[in-house]
Amino acid sequence: MAASGGMPSDIPDVINVGLMGLGVVGTGVATHLLDRGSSLADVAGRSVNLKKVLVRDPALPRDIKLPSGVMTTNAEDILSDPDIHIVVEVMGGTDPAEGYLRQGLAAGKHVVTANKEVMAKSGSELLALARQNDASLLFEASVGGGIPIVGCLMNELAANDIRSIRSIINGTTNYILTRMAHQRTSFQQALGEAQELGYAEADPTNDVEGIDAAYKLTILASLAYRRPFQHADVFCEGISKLEPQDFRYAQELGYSIKFLAIANLEDGAVQLRVYPAFVPAEHMLAKVDGVYNAVEVDGSLCGQVLFHGMGAGREPTTSAVVGDLIEVIRSIGSHATQPGAQDGRSPGNGVDLAVRPIGDLQARYYIRLDVVDHPGVLAQIAQVLGDGQISIAAVLQRDTHPETESAEIVITTHPANEASMQNALKAMAGLDQVRRVSNMIRIEE
Ligand SMILES: NC(=O)c1ccc[n+]([C@@H]2O[C@H](COP(=O)([O-])OP(=O)(O)OC[C@H]3O[C@@H](n4cnc5c(N)ncnc54)[C@H](OP(=O)(O)O)[C@@H]3O)[C@@H](O)[C@H]2O)c1
Repeated sequence: MAASGGMPSDIPDVINVGLMGLGVVGTGVATHLLDRGSSLADVAGRSVNLKKVLVRDPALPRDIKLPSGVMTTNAEDILSDPDIHIVVEVMGGTDPAEGYLRQGLAAGKHVVTANKEVMAKSGSELLALARQNDASLLFEASVGGGIPIVGCLMNELAANDIRSIRSIINGTTNYILTRMAHQRTSFQQALGEAQELGYAEADPTNDVEGIDAAYKLTILASLAYRRPFQHADVFCEGISKLEPQDFRYAQELGYSIKFLAIANLEDGAVQLRVYPAFVPAEHMLAKVDGVYNAVEVDGSLCGQVLFHGMGAGREPTTSAVVGDLIEVIRSIGSHATQPGAQDGRSPGNGVDLAVRPIGDLQARYYIRLDVVDHPGVLAQIAQVLGDGQISIAAVLQRDTHPETESAEIVITTHPANEASMQNALKAMAGLDQVRRVSNMIRIEE
């Protein structure tokens, strides 16, 4: 380990990296380190050596040929090697990944991770551990793939009080909703297509129920509001209840349906919510289609800033991981960045903001009801809404079926309280003339 000219003697010329995971992202990162080593050295200021790569099954066919002796199935070859300076974790899941991150940080190694689940569940503890051990922990790839939103919230936007974040941060569900909107396919059909194309997993629960988006929102909100949030702080509603009619009505009313992850600060409290929402068709977020992601940040100084790009995939995620790697390498020995202080959750940095429950939300609502096609039904529904202080903005009645005496009624409301709306929905479902409350979707203006 030689020292470079002018550098303290304990600062190495060559930075050794241990890569944990050689799947979609790991292969991209390893390829970049092996193929672009000299240009990476120019940018980072030091040479980078891919010393070890951890995999589960060394017999699997790979898209990459590693130099001999680099691949290992023993995590200790990375975690217990004092010559490995940086651990890059792109394995995913919490176990054993989180334990490896803890072990690496405790040994004073710098860590770069793409793991949203670990950062959402244990980010604060891991960042504290990094600080205690004078190590850096960077996680740009954990949200938004190639979109540099994590670093921007930590650094470039740090002067702002963040009023809100509104985002589309799950490419799988955005692909499904785009297919449902443009092709009018059912949810199941669109999901099947996404699975065939490799955009959705065999078990799509994490994506379609909003769990993945909630992890990412937890990370973004913790950075924006400088206090740790938990997954349980996020109100979460998935997209599986959406039907083709909802997209038809949305278009008729001038909206698109998007799966939004929203954080907003109001009266000293932060509300975190993930749900499908009506977005005005002319709004930028309404135009984000396919597997793309977008994050709109509303800051006190910068105003509204929109980030848009590839939220997943080998190359975009490699961009984020290697970008973090370069940042860590540049900071080694420079003290330009206090380890851990770049994270908004450093002690003393935060304000103790409360979490606002979803029942306090004030929003406009779209309601779709399957009713008995008799005179007076609408009056009964209007009465229920009126009892909850919810005023109607528009009513559409379509799809009457004389043979079954049923009709579909769509109502949009003026801003109303979520708790009142939930009570009204229960009361409507109890009316004899209402066969089904088919859907309720919030309208984000
Ligand atoms: N894919 C994306 O576009 C994307 C985007 C943003 C963030 N991320 C995040 O990046 C991480 C990696 O995602 P990925 O899509 O690259 O995953 P992946 O394709 O499933 O690859 C996972 C890799 O980790 C290895 N691995 C898993 N468990 C292991 C264990 N217990 N011991 C040793 N090796 C183990 C696997 O080894 P084998 O190859 O031997 O099975 C595989 O090489 C996840 O946290 C994910 O959320 C992914």
